[in-house]
Amino acid sequence: MFGNSPLKLDIDCKKTKTWERLPILTRIPSRVNISPNFTQENIMSKKRVLSGIQPSGSLHIGNYFGMMKQMIKYQEQSELFCFIASYHALTSVSDGDRLREDIINVALDFLALGLDPKKSVFWVQSDVPEVTELTWILSNVTSMGLLERCTSYKDKIAKGLSPVHGLFAYPVLMTADILLFQSEVIPVGKDQKQHVEVARDIATRFNHTYGETFVMPKPQINDDIALIPGVDGQKMSKSYNNTIEIFCADKALKKKVMSVVTDSAGVEDKKDPDSSVPYQLYKLFATAEQAQDLADRYRAGGLGYGTAKKELLAMISDYFAPFKKKREDLANNLDYVHELLNEGAEKAREFATPTLDKVRQKVGLKY
Ligand code: ADP
Ligand code: TRP
Repeated sequence: MFGNSPLKLDIDCKKTKTWERLPILTRIPSRVNISPNFTQENIMSKKRVLSGIQPSGSLHIGNYFGMMKQMIKYQEQSELFCFIASYHALTSVSDGDRLREDIINVALDFLALGLDPKKSVFWVQSDVPEVTELTWILSNVTSMGLLERCTSYKDKIAKGLSPVHGLFAYPVLMTADILLFQSEVIPVGKDQKQHVEVARDIATRFNHTYGETFVMPKPQINDDIALIPGVDGQKMSKSYNNTIEIFCADKALKKKVMSVVTDSAGVEDKKDPDSSVPYQLYKLFATAEQAQDLADRYRAGGLGYGTAKKELLAMISDYFAPFKKKREDLANNLDYVHELLNEGAEKAREFATPTLDKVRQKVGLKY
């Protein structure tokens, strides 16, 4: 589908920069007319949703069901700001070539899976370096105690990451991501909730010190989204080496799926679907009827895990097949992808600049 369509982003760039007299949280530069979602009428009623994902390895089906699918849905009903957290990835990736590759791969994954730059603002964090200036300014209203209480720093050190300043200050950068775009709703996994609380604390402190400046963001934790298990039954995670990548090659996918952990029940034994990892994964892709049908077959006995895994493999392949084709088309048009990312960064900057100007004015850097 993508291959046949003219690969072009439809941005109406009026040259004027007249600002509407709207409150800071709802102001939109008139030249940024990127989608029906971003019109001045809609902007008054639609919430601004922002989230980011780190390009620190290949994205997996845990990332897809736990984050990306939700984000792609948000673009239909909200003002979606979605970015590739490249500065954050520096806390765990120290190979420049790898980071370069991962940034493009995440962009290809998101675009192939349906993120539409016409309906959202999609950019690479480091293409809008204004966020680092805001990070520094915010660092001066961030108490050490607040950062010392963040559990993810301690968890990451325990997992072997270097105890560097970037890792310690990571929640301030995340706060700057959120506040620079005056974001209201921040969909995150449970592990990131504390960081959004930090953003609220820092926003409160800044607003108190310098006067009302930032919108108060709220974390959005979707409790319906179960933690997706990896092939070993633990939480699927890049750091546990137990992932099934979204765009895994056929042979490798088969190998991964066939390696999914099970108990030692024989073919004829009755099985409990809810405690079976292949079934938990199958359910993500299946309709309610398909899931019920498989659960019944588990309980009846006569279904071997080998067969169950083959059915899971077919489900995963069929689900991602159309996205795979789109990803290939995009990968063959990298200039176009770069163009989209450049335009995304330009759009993001249109929103970031007025906030940063206001902050510079308030703290006294504008003289
Ligand atoms: P990883 O653990 O592989 O490093 P990240 O921590 O970068 O993944 O997570 C990126 C996003 O994907 C987050 O929003 C997170 O909540 C979601 N996510 C990651 N793994 C899972 C999982 N196993 N189940 C559900 N959501 C997940
Ligand atoms: N720290 C998040 C993660 O590792 C990614 C991220 C960076 C983020 N900046 C953000 C998420 C701002 C939400 C809002 O998953």
